[in-house]
Amino acid sequence: MIAVGHRITLDAPAVDLPIRLLPRHTAIIAGSGSGKTVLLRRLVEEAALAGLPAIVIDPNNDLSRLGDPWPERPKAFTPEDARKAERYRERVEVVVWTPGVRAGNPLFLSVLPDFSELGEDRDERQQAIEMAAETLGPLAGAKTNLLRGVLMGALEHFAARGGKLPDFIALLADLPDGISDIGNAGKHAAGMADQLRAAVATNPLLKVEGTVLDPRHLFFGSDPARTRISVVNLSGLASDAAREDFVNRLQMTLFGWIRTNPSPRGILYVVDEAQSFLPAQKASPSLGSGIKLVAQGRKYGLGMIVATQVPRGIHNQVVSNCTTQFFGRQSAPATIAAAQEILAANGGTASDIGKLSAGEFYFATEGSGRPAKLRTPLCLSHHPANPPTPEEVARRAKASAGSAR
Ligand SMILES: Nc1ncnc2c1ncn2[C@@H]1O[C@H](COP(=O)(O)OP(=O)(O)O)[C@@H](O)[C@H]1O
Ligand SMILES: [Mg+2]
Repeated sequence: MIAVGHRITLDAPAVDLPIRLLPRHTAIIAGSGSGKTVLLRRLVEEAALAGLPAIVIDPNNDLSRLGDPWPERPKAFTPEDARKAERYRERVEVVVWTPGVRAGNPLFLSVLPDFSELGEDRDERQQAIEMAAETLGPLAGAKTNLLRGVLMGALEHFAARGGKLPDFIALLADLPDGISDIGNAGKHAAGMADQLRAAVATNPLLKVEGTVLDPRHLFFGSDPARTRISVVNLSGLASDAAREDFVNRLQMTLFGWIRTNPSPRGILYVVDEAQSFLPAQKASPSLGSGIKLVAQGRKYGLGMIVATQVPRGIHNQVVSNCTTQFFGRQSAPATIAAAQEILAANGGTASDIGKLSAGEFYFATEGSGRPAKLRTPLCLSHHPANPPTPEEVARRAKASAGSAR
């Protein structure tokens, strides 16, 4: 038997996932009720036991229970599961963050990347500028190419010096000559400055009143003996647009941070219901930064885990970067066919994908050969059928706020 912590036993005793493959990203694709969230939780929990911290995006509130033990030992637990659950309780610290909820554990992120943290690498600098343009574009009302062009020119100029959002708005409001050769650039820029001022006035998350968070505090607490899992709960963000904007800013912040703080051991960034944030079929403010994270994260030891209900729901540039893939039960004929097609392209047959039980998945990773069926273990923390209410989430968040920073 191989030492605990270096691999995750998915189906004892036959199938393991080496922890070292986590930074090469994981996709979980399975219909509702098929065991996606249980599997995602178990992967995060096992990684934490092996010392890998995680940021987990929680769109449905159920992940806010990652710090709650099962009230009774589940029947499905093996003695090994019970031992691990105990160790998880001792060695893992779960902090719940609630952006937009003052009664919980609010989290503030800056709108612009910290350009001063970027090195001299021109590609990286350009990517940071592009990400900032993707974030600011919708907020600045930059709907046309003309406006986006002016915005880009202003950002390129701004990136050389850096600064905060008010500094950038001031630059736009009074754009110096020579920054953009687009006609009437100054007028367009001033219009976008006003749009940004209006966005700040109406979106409370753009008005940074708390301390802007250093991602270090999402991954590491003050006790080096405990591995931190930060659950970022989205229930305080009322609209899809606000959620996507927030996730985008978190991804941008992470992208900037990991280059100066690469992790040899590995860190995780986990997105459940990832079709909302990294969608295949539509544009989303969080898509560009997500693709950059998945493409570059690995270099710095950042592994992503994405889960979704619909095959082809997540952007192909994300899924194709996932070395490890799980396919679970699908119920609709169209999604059954789509999952079978993807599995067939990888040499697998999955005629029973519509009949799998919760927790059964087809699994493939590097060197595993064609996708093979397995039964995954239950998660170590409490996962009842119904998610907690936003009020319950806020209580958990408040309780964890003390140790958070
Ligand atoms: N590996 C498993 N072992 C035992 N029961 C499981 C397992 N995975 C899921 N289940 C059962 O299925 C239910 C739904 O799982 P969940 O992960 O919430 O589904 P999804 O996120 O795909 O909608 C769980 O509440 C649990 O009762
Ligand atoms: Mg789920």
